[in-house]
Amino acid sequence: MQEIIEQIKKCDNLNDLENLRISVLGKKGILTQKFSELKNIEGEEKKELASILNKQKDEFNHFFSLKLKELEDLELNEKMKQDVLNFTYFDESATSGALHPVLSTMDKIIEYFSNLNFSIEKGPLIEEDFYNFEALNLPKSHPARDMQDTFYFDDKRLLRTQTSPVQIRTMLKQKPPIRMIAPGVVFRRDFDITHTPMFHQVEALVVEEGQKISFAHLKGVLEDFLHYMFKDINIRFRPSFFPFTEPSAEVDISCVFCKGQGCRVCKNTGWLEVLGCGIVDPNVYNFVNYKNVSGYAFGLGVERFAMLLHQIPDLRSLFEGDLRLLEQFR
Ligand code: DAH
Repeated sequence: MQEIIEQIKKCDNLNDLENLRISVLGKKGILTQKFSELKNIEGEEKKELASILNKQKDEFNHFFSLKLKELEDLELNEKMKQDVLNFTYFDESATSGALHPVLSTMDKIIEYFSNLNFSIEKGPLIEEDFYNFEALNLPKSHPARDMQDTFYFDDKRLLRTQTSPVQIRTMLKQKPPIRMIAPGVVFRRDFDITHTPMFHQVEALVVEEGQKISFAHLKGVLEDFLHYMFKDINIRFRPSFFPFTEPSAEVDISCVFCKGQGCRVCKNTGWLEVLGCGIVDPNVYNFVNYKNVSGYAFGLGVERFAMLLHQIPDLRSLFEGDLRLLEQFR
């Protein structure tokens, strides 16, 4: 037994230690065999031998577990040395993030109108037909509903196709004067080079009591706003149609790619359409019970602004999450 104890003490790996254990206490181990010989003897002799064997077994187990603990600790220490974490390490290739161009453009637009004291209003993305269409002077079978391909849940609920419903929600919530913008996402069943099923809009609405607001106010604000957003541009208003404004207009800026000379992007017209606007149609006021008021509204697409601001040629690149694009906006 003394020899085995010496072997345990010298043992320097868990494998050898386990083999030692098997050679002593395994099925065919030395002690196991000696224990099985007990059945062949009787009386005092048996008692004596049993007590010797039990002592030897205890002794073996004692030194065995000491060694086991020692070797396991050693292994753990070795492992921890290899897995060490260096908390002072500074990775020079690590970079900071940046705002996505759509968000930074959104921020710039919001900043302009916040400075003019416009409030920022919100509405649900799952919208009711009443707010998205009906109260915006778009009755059920109106052909202008085809201007926007709508995702419907059922007869009543849809994914909002525009931020204009926030106009209605705000007018129902408060009395004039109103001076608000509604930034947010909108959805349309449309997917090609120039359309994505989800995009961002900013809506604006100004309403005053009496007949104080005219097209001149609208024109003044939009011209100042567009010159704030884009450097060196010309602006023009073109008559257009929207169900919720009368008269309505679309606003063009001179092409930022060719400076109005004519190119592929502006289809050789020298102009780019950037937003829709108009004087709020009196029919809309009927839906919110406003009497003797006047106001203007406009709506714009944020992706389009971002593309023109940063001269990004393909709308889809805004949604691909390609780091090579995003890194340019750090
Ligand atoms: N809601 C319109 C659209 O999504 C944009 C728009 C046009 C909003 C004219 C307005 C407006 O408030 O007066 O196409």
